[in-house]
Amino acid sequence: MPIMLSGHLQGRVLSMISHMLKPTHILEIGTFTGYSAICLAEGLAENGQLITIDVNEEMHELCETFFEKAGQADKIKMMIGKAADIIPTLDIAFDLVFIDADKTTYSHYFDLVIEKVKKGGFILADNVLFHGEVLEPEKASKNAKAMHAYNEKIMNDARVECVLLPIRDGIMISRKK
Ligand SMILES: C[S@@+](CC[C@H](N)C(=O)[O-])C[C@H]1O[C@@H](n2cnc3c(N)ncnc32)[C@H](O)[C@@H]1O
Repeated sequence: MPIMLSGHLQGRVLSMISHMLKPTHILEIGTFTGYSAICLAEGLAENGQLITIDVNEEMHELCETFFEKAGQADKIKMMIGKAADIIPTLDIAFDLVFIDADKTTYSHYFDLVIEKVKKGGFILADNVLFHGEVLEPEKASKNAKAMHAYNEKIMNDARVECVLLPIRDGIMISRKK
């Protein structure tokens, strides 16, 4: 399912954002092959760590191979399981979170991570345009409706300030005030 991969442009944007922030702790929700994890990990501060979660254990070995090839195996920790079960067990203050898993759970992921994000930290969410379907939510698919609901939710959440980058399928950047 190559469509699940962040493309090259998005990968470079994620890497650039990470380099700008020099985060110590990154959380990624949705690993797939590990491509976006590798891009985000490029900007980590020295001794920084990225935790990436995926429910699909079949990808674990392949991801570890790619993390090794990218020279980032010591910086990236992959956790296998449902993100909604794992996130509450993480006692870490994150500088940066990237949400890129099951679309219908984005709003719940936001609720789970917002108190774990440092003041001034960022939450990125992929696919917020959902192929443009969010423009007509009444006609949209279940996933597009969920993305529309996510966009509405965070735009009305006083804890964050948001900007939508119309790159690829749309990346929403939320800064915790
Ligand atoms: C779009 S892909 C991630 C792509 C990756 N971030 C990239 O850009 O290279 C979405 C991933 O979310 C995972 N996923 C779906 N539901 C999940 C859940 N409940 N918990 C954790 N991961 C989940 C899928 O197995 C899939 O690998």
